[in-house]
Amino acid sequence: MSGVTTGEGGGAKAVPTAAELDDMSPEELARLATELDDVVVQHNAPKFPVPGTRAEKRAERTVAFWFVLSALAALAFVVAFIAWPHEYVPPSDPGYTMYSLYTPVVGVTFGLAVLSLGVGVITYVRKFFPEEVSVQQRHDGPSDEVARRTVMAQLASAGKDTTIARRSLIKRSAGAAAGLFGIGLGIAAIGPLIRNPWKDGPDSPLWVTGWRPENGETVFLRADTGELSEIRRVRPEDMEPGSMQTVFPFRESERGDEEALLHAQKASDAPVMLIRLRPGTPVVKRAGQEDFNYGDYYAFSKICTHLGCPTSLYQAQDNRILCPCHQSQFLATEYARPVFGPATRALPQLPITVDEQGYFVARSDFPEAVGPAFWERRS
Ligand code: FES
Repeated sequence: MSGVTTGEGGGAKAVPTAAELDDMSPEELARLATELDDVVVQHNAPKFPVPGTRAEKRAERTVAFWFVLSALAALAFVVAFIAWPHEYVPPSDPGYTMYSLYTPVVGVTFGLAVLSLGVGVITYVRKFFPEEVSVQQRHDGPSDEVARRTVMAQLASAGKDTTIARRSLIKRSAGAAAGLFGIGLGIAAIGPLIRNPWKDGPDSPLWVTGWRPENGETVFLRADTGELSEIRRVRPEDMEPGSMQTVFPFRESERGDEEALLHAQKASDAPVMLIRLRPGTPVVKRAGQEDFNYGDYYAFSKICTHLGCPTSLYQAQDNRILCPCHQSQFLATEYARPVFGPATRALPQLPITVDEQGYFVARSDFPEAVGPAFWERRS
């Protein structure tokens, strides 16, 4: 038996029973959905009322072109991501050009795949979706059972109107584009997880920094002069009490080697803050690191343990090291432990001393990982 529902504005409509709904065809259900929703279709015209015309074929090829282009770009992205040489090559070595093109090639092919896929979808909608103008009254409250069942039929009907079911060229090209694009995304997401950055054990590049002495060679603390070739090694008398300067690792074997100097200075874990406290400043040292300082001189990693910004500010009045990114503060007089802000780990301290010629040198690498708490942690 049919029920009655009241529409917007008080108009009553006959609502079919479940049995009547079961007997209805998808087209009838879709029509019923528009009636129950107070939708009035003012105009509905398919873009190609006569199938198989040259205009329709041309439109179909246009859409397929974009999907094929997307598929090819996605394929090129996958190949480039896996096979293009991406290991660092110095500018003076053969292979540098190919290495320097890695990021542009990966970026352009990925961007083209996304762009072409989007253009293909938009072109399909514009060229094949029927032209329709409908007007619907606003409804309040949740949808009833009838509305829920009919809306599915309406969606199916709308899908049928797009004529996608009989367009195998577009379906195949779109499937290839979406499939290859998805594979590319998957590879880009999983690729970095497959490479094991710790495979070299304790010598893995992520465990060590440029401060590690190699082949028994001394590692000096070099001042930042702004000129790569202008080497100035730091001595205690170069600094006033209550001052700070940024230093980088330097080995005599690197003198004159622009590439090595550049690498030593640009490495993200290399910068160190060398701080000279005022004489007599009370200090709390970390257990096991009691001899890491040289008199009033303390060397801490400059890489913030929150998210890796350079903690470039030293406030001599209260001996605080400040990170400008999220305002973490570290106490230089207490092994640079965090006292304010989001950082939870002390800045690693570099063990230093002075050699027989009076220059600061690193006694070893940092004893712990440099940088944010989620980077390079052993435990
Ligand atoms: S990176 Fe230093 S406080 Fe966030």
